[in-house]
Amino acid sequence: MLTTSETNPGRFLPRHEAFVARLNGELDRLMDEKRLSAVGRAPERLVAAMRHALLAGGKRLRPFLMAESAALIGADSEPLTAGAAVECLHTYSLVHDDLPAMDDDDLRRGRPTVHRAFDEATAILAGDTLLTFSFQLLAEAGTHPDPAVRVELVRLLAEATGAGGMAGGQMRDLAAEHCRLDAEAVNELQAMKTGALIAVSCEMGAVFAGAGAEDREALRRFGAAIGLAFQIADDLIDTQSSAEIAGKATGKDAAAGKATLVSLLGPEAAQDLLARTIGEAEAWLEPYGERAEVLLATAKFIAQRSH
Ligand code: IPE
Ligand code: IPE
Ligand code: MG
Ligand code: MG
Ligand code: MG
Repeated sequence: MLTTSETNPGRFLPRHEAFVARLNGELDRLMDEKRLSAVGRAPERLVAAMRHALLAGGKRLRPFLMAESAALIGADSEPLTAGAAVECLHTYSLVHDDLPAMDDDDLRRGRPTVHRAFDEATAILAGDTLLTFSFQLLAEAGTHPDPAVRVELVRLLAEATGAGGMAGGQMRDLAAEHCRLDAEAVNELQAMKTGALIAVSCEMGAVFAGAGAEDREALRRFGAAIGLAFQIADDLIDTQSSAEIAGKATGKDAAAGKATLVSLLGPEAAQDLLARTIGEAEAWLEPYGERAEVLLATAKFIAQRSH
């Protein structure tokens, strides 16, 4: 089996770069006033705020994982619109995460946050409309020819990001500012706020490709493990990186009293846990051998990322 220490980052970087260009093109195509104005005319300021958040860069990792999961199963087309839908949902979560009522951040993806560039009410509405737009996209016929697959994608994404998933995890994250959690509780919180969307991105790729239950589970579990690793890496970035590199303010979690594995275990033990979690992720892809090379290289990128 390939492990992350053996995988070649060269299998990730060019493939990721080419994908980001395709996905950005798709987002630009989809995010147009006409599509947003199916019932009434979408206000220019709201569309501008949505585009500000969405088309500002961003690693596009969730749609990339979806596309690579679909490719692993052997999909005969790329889930580009479904990937765009997941990116819209992720971006909504960032817009709301940055609001004064939540993390109160001024910088995101190297630009002023939406409530800074526009205003708070516009940021709330831009988040709302990115969220609803993501389900509009999943329901559209062009996303997948089989309506049963489209409904399954909608169900999976809604479940992973609702009260028992991402939004519930965000609620727990805020509540944890006022009490001390143990490592198990932090793990559970992070599995919800970050892991669930990353896991479901992988599973949605499998569903898009018509995978059976076993493949769906393997990819979901792989995604859940790299999702946990992803948040540990994010928390390490908060303590070790700069705003220039990260594109967002750093050094804020400790001051805000955030419950993270880095604050709980210390940076070295957190780094070890990150490596072990990546090892668990790799094990889920063992049955796929060389076919999993790009996903394994993505896990390696997550383990070593600096932004
Ligand atoms: C940031 O996500 C929020 C977390 C879940 C830690 P990303 O690091 O994927 O942000 P972008 O999309 O690349 O800006
Ligand atoms: C954000 O976690 C998770 C979601 C938006 C669901 P963080 O608050 O740590 O993300 P950053 O550091 O602001 O990107
Ligand atoms: Mg937060
Ligand atoms: Mg934040
Ligand atoms: Mg963070």
